Amino acid sequence: MDSAVRNNNSGWWDGSVGYEIYIRSFADSNGDGVGDLPGIIEKLDYLSWLGVDLVWVTPFYPSPMADFGYDVSDYCGVDPLFGTLEDFDELIEEAHRRELRVIIDLVPNHSSSEHPWFLSSRTSIDDEFRGYYHWRDPAPGGGPPNNWVSHFGGSAWTLDKQSGQYYLHLFLPEQPDLNWNNPRVIKEFDEILKFWLARDVDGFRIDVAQGLVKNMLMPDNPLRFPIRDDMSPRQVFAAFDHRYDLDQGGNLEIFRRWRTLVEPHNSLLLGEVYLRDNDPNRVSRYVSSGDALHRAFYFAPMHVPWDPQSMWDTFRDALNAAPEDLSWALSSHDDPRAPSRFGGGQEGKQRSLAYSTLLFFLPGLPFIYQGDELGLPNIELDQEDLADPVATRNAVETDGRDGARSPIPWRNDPEFGFTTGTPWIPMGGRSYEDTAEYQQEAESSWLMSYKQLLETRKDHLDPTAPLQWVTARDSDVIGFRRGGTISALNVGVDDSDLPLPEGEWELVFQVGEVAIGTGVLAFGVNSAAVLVLASQ
Ligand code: NOJ
Repeated sequence: MDSAVRNNNSGWWDGSVGYEIYIRSFADSNGDGVGDLPGIIEKLDYLSWLGVDLVWVTPFYPSPMADFGYDVSDYCGVDPLFGTLEDFDELIEEAHRRELRVIIDLVPNHSSSEHPWFLSSRTSIDDEFRGYYHWRDPAPGGGPPNNWVSHFGGSAWTLDKQSGQYYLHLFLPEQPDLNWNNPRVIKEFDEILKFWLARDVDGFRIDVAQGLVKNMLMPDNPLRFPIRDDMSPRQVFAAFDHRYDLDQGGNLEIFRRWRTLVEPHNSLLLGEVYLRDNDPNRVSRYVSSGDALHRAFYFAPMHVPWDPQSMWDTFRDALNAAPEDLSWALSSHDDPRAPSRFGGGQEGKQRSLAYSTLLFFLPGLPFIYQGDELGLPNIELDQEDLADPVATRNAVETDGRDGARSPIPWRNDPEFGFTTGTPWIPMGGRSYEDTAEYQQEAESSWLMSYKQLLETRKDHLDPTAPLQWVTARDSDVIGFRRGGTISALNVGVDDSDLPLPEGEWELVFQVGEVAIGTGVLAFGVNSAAVLVLASQ
């Protein structure tokens, strides 16, 4: 195997594949219709069988659930809806027994408005917790202190009538932003990290990592293009240059501090660095110094269309900016599921698997979002079933994130074995063929293909081998080589060939129609392949 020098961000995660568990919709153990920690424990054998190495569990802390757990009212506990702290300890123990690592979701940008810090802070201007949040007087002529907007719609400021001041929230009013310029907030989070590290977590996925520090002068953000009434919250948010509320230099200082806390525990810091236009050069700053985050999610591949040049540009730019330290995913609980995004039906599913073939061989840390391995598309919801506040609280029609959050269909039981009760959100017209049970037994299925893809990766990929492109920008096939493996994908509308580098190459994994000839690999549409160098 090639032995490249490992960079400072190396660790046990180097050769790993992650799996995102959106806890509400994964597996419900007690029939209340909401997934929980004991439900995850029951599925650990499935996850080991699938071949993933670490799981990221979305927030399970006590929460009023205004944003389904991303509004935390106690950072060191478990919401009874999801279980107990003992269940959490058991999850860690049982996962570790199977050599699975567990990272948890840290939500430092904002707390819940029901968090005791915020409740206290709103009692008076002089309260000792007032400085934990961003409280400001109205603008000179009245109204919000500046033009900042919430990701979820409307102004980022809510007036508190009692004190006549506004507080800042980049998400819901129930998610007030913490003040990361306050040393006391910094110390509080040191203790929170230590609490979970002592419980043996293997790392943290850091929510809104781009947002923690704000420019304390709070100037207006420049407008990039005009706002119209018919724009969705996402579009309105994107209309601003977030020069003063996101991506401030101080974020890195916090992550450097956390790095010293996690390092003795060998724990991973993985940031959700969600930036406008997904500029990879900005994202790379969070990992490139080698003393801040170990990995940063890069979101452009989750939005890129099925088009060779767009995909090529996306990957090339990202890998130029951060050759080893990005994290990739097909889908997430915030974004549409890949099979729907890639056109739906069988074609959408095949494209997703083919795309994964490329994604999972890139340098960095790839993630499967629960259900990706079953080829699940988004579900359609009736208006009255919508749950996501992005959808329910905005006048402008937006479908929100519910379509990607429906529960996992496990087996041939009522509600497909997700719950013995009523699921908190509809299962969404799944069929028996969608279930893990069916797909585990079927001769060929999405699940078995994903399992095989992960096995191929484990058997053949040297995680330290650097990437060399084997195709150019004008090619319909996108392919690269890492040491003795090639991964390639045909994104074109026609069949296409890939000339192979010298040596004897063996086809070890394929999606769709692929044929190997002398010095050439022939691809049908929507197909992908992994090749291994048998000899020079
Ligand atoms: C990103 C999370 O993934 C999303 O679900 C949440 O709503 C926001 N951050 C706010 O915490």
